[in-house]
Amino acid sequence: MNAPLERSTATNRVRTATSHGLDLALRTEVLRGLAATPKTLPPKLFYDATGAVLFERITELPEYYPTRAELEILRAHTRDIATLAGERCALVEYGSGAGVKVRLLLDAFAGEGHPVAAYVPIDISREQLADVAAQIAAEYPAVPVYPVCADYTAPLRLPDLPQRARRIAFFPGSTIGNFHPTEAAAFLRRVRRTIADDGVLVLGVDRRKDAATLDAAYNDSAGITAVFNLNMLARLNRELGADFDLPRFQHRAFFNEVASRIEMHLVSLERQVVHLAGERFAFEAGESIWTESSYKYDLAALGVLVTSAGFRITRLWTDAAERFWVAYLGAA
Ligand code: AVI
Repeated sequence: MNAPLERSTATNRVRTATSHGLDLALRTEVLRGLAATPKTLPPKLFYDATGAVLFERITELPEYYPTRAELEILRAHTRDIATLAGERCALVEYGSGAGVKVRLLLDAFAGEGHPVAAYVPIDISREQLADVAAQIAAEYPAVPVYPVCADYTAPLRLPDLPQRARRIAFFPGSTIGNFHPTEAAAFLRRVRRTIADDGVLVLGVDRRKDAATLDAAYNDSAGITAVFNLNMLARLNRELGADFDLPRFQHRAFFNEVASRIEMHLVSLERQVVHLAGERFAFEAGESIWTESSYKYDLAALGVLVTSAGFRITRLWTDAAERFWVAYLGAA
């Protein structure tokens, strides 16, 4: 499916976006995941309109440090990024969300006297993407905006970008951690092909740290992460006519030290059967649906990942408390 995603402003026009067929593919993935052992659901299902708002609230929670840590690094180093990247760059952002971090980059490029030649926000959350694309187009009249509504975990085609523009891929937020390592490498290899030999990837990575800090970040005292996790079932009820009874499932998140990842699950509190798209899914008491992994990297693991995808680390910046990295990666 290709659907336009156009909003115009007086000064700058958002280009027609491409939208890839999410609905059928997601439905198939959901059915396959619930039939598997252990049961799984893909984390991209979190981000309907409600989930996107809940995620923004998570980023402001006192326990959820990654967003603040990454913003601290970006505030300190976006000028370095703009200087290293140079003139005539097309900025491609994977998972543009609310567009907070990219504004720092756009400001830095403009401040260096060379605004980017194009901005391509890619996101699965259609409403949020349309809003953010329109806002950025209005705020940065010199920057053509080409939104792409797509699941970037699958291969996708970018719109035609200004000729000879160097591609700067931006993948902040430590979302790379939500891929299993082999998928992360496959995704980064696709990004590597997209940026070509003269391109760059600016990557946000959450660092491995003590289990108590990690556990707290995914079990906040206000319970927002629990609501975010459970919204996935509410979404399946709304959009696929499922009959999940939410009070009979519970949020669970913990740090798996061996695999170096946070695991998020929805645990069935009792034996029950759930119906979805004409199928029946039986749950034992205590059985869970694995909804997300969030891998935490040390330097060795990060080195293996980026090298296997054809990148090399040109710069690696961290925050004062050394919780997070922003890596500036060139082609190896
Ligand atoms: C988007 N992603 C990097 C978040 C994370 O920390 O893995 C998603 C999230 N899940 C629970 N809290 C935040």
